[in-house]
Amino acid sequence: MKELTVNTSRPYRILIEEGCLNEIGAQAAGLFSPGAQAVVVSDSNVAPLYASQVEKSLQAAGFATRLFTFPAGETSKRLATLEQLYSFLAQCNTTRSDFIVALGGGVTGDMAGFAAATYLRGIGYIQVPTTLLSQIDSSVGGKTAVDLPQGKNLVGAFWQPRLVLIDPLTINTLSPHYFADGMGEAIKYGCIRSAALFNRLEKEDARSFLPQMIAECVDIKRQIVEHDERDTGERMLLNFGHTLGHALEKLYHFETLSHGQAVGVGMVMITRASERAGLTHAGTTGRICALLRKYGLPESDSTSMDAIAAATNNDKKSEGGTLNLVLLSQIGESFLHPIPRTQLTSFLKEDAQ
Ligand code: GLY
Repeated sequence: MKELTVNTSRPYRILIEEGCLNEIGAQAAGLFSPGAQAVVVSDSNVAPLYASQVEKSLQAAGFATRLFTFPAGETSKRLATLEQLYSFLAQCNTTRSDFIVALGGGVTGDMAGFAAATYLRGIGYIQVPTTLLSQIDSSVGGKTAVDLPQGKNLVGAFWQPRLVLIDPLTINTLSPHYFADGMGEAIKYGCIRSAALFNRLEKEDARSFLPQMIAECVDIKRQIVEHDERDTGERMLLNFGHTLGHALEKLYHFETLSHGQAVGVGMVMITRASERAGLTHAGTTGRICALLRKYGLPESDSTSMDAIAAATNNDKKSEGGTLNLVLLSQIGESFLHPIPRTQLTSFLKEDAQ
């Protein structure tokens, strides 16, 4: 079993091993009191696949279990579903010695994590991510949230889990579309911090070293989160490709492009512009495009740069009139490049140079 410790304000472990879903009871026994109640939160796609396996393991370790399910999809990540979850916790007489198990992808982890952060002013939770995207990104680092009609993740809290349990076997039930979605973020980690990971993704098929790839991505995130738990500086590097990617997702009403697809296109657009500005090693954009193609991700989009720049207006990396762009000096090395928001369009547009 691969084990990492995240040294945040309250340290926690990340365990990565094929089949480790069956270990959740034994692992939770080291964290919560015997007889505590575990409320498993999962969506309508994931619960039928894994909830009973997880509940059995928890029960065998002496925990009482309850299951809360909600309809799968980003539209469930809202206050109305959260309110149903709070009511469920109240009906179950959940106390501060009980805990939540977030079993599923990013929507489940973010929403169940926010419920844990706020119910009774904070109870413990375990992240059990079952998509590649949530295994290498959202389950680690304690960002929890729900969406508002005005935008994604607008109401949330930093609340670190007590444990992250990653079973790479759950990736086997993902469609190629969702696998590619996660690969967008894996390529991002290579871009911002690890030329070795990027090279390996170029030379080999990610599926042939999946547990190692997950561990490498998570370890990069661990290091960055340890340095900047509250996202005020270095953690912004994790958002390479995201300023333009989020703008594209918004312009397509979160329907046409998946998160990983949008981030991939965003990485290409921003790197093409920074290469042109002489801030990035020549040829970097071409390598990113080729790797995105290899993993079935798009490298371009026909939306105009004016529309994309305009749609970045509530980017979380903005400070007043300044936008902190995440750029690469070369594959494996990233930096923050603050520019006045008014200069974004000219930075992005070839004919405006
Ligand atoms: N997903 C970016 C972060 O956790 O900071």
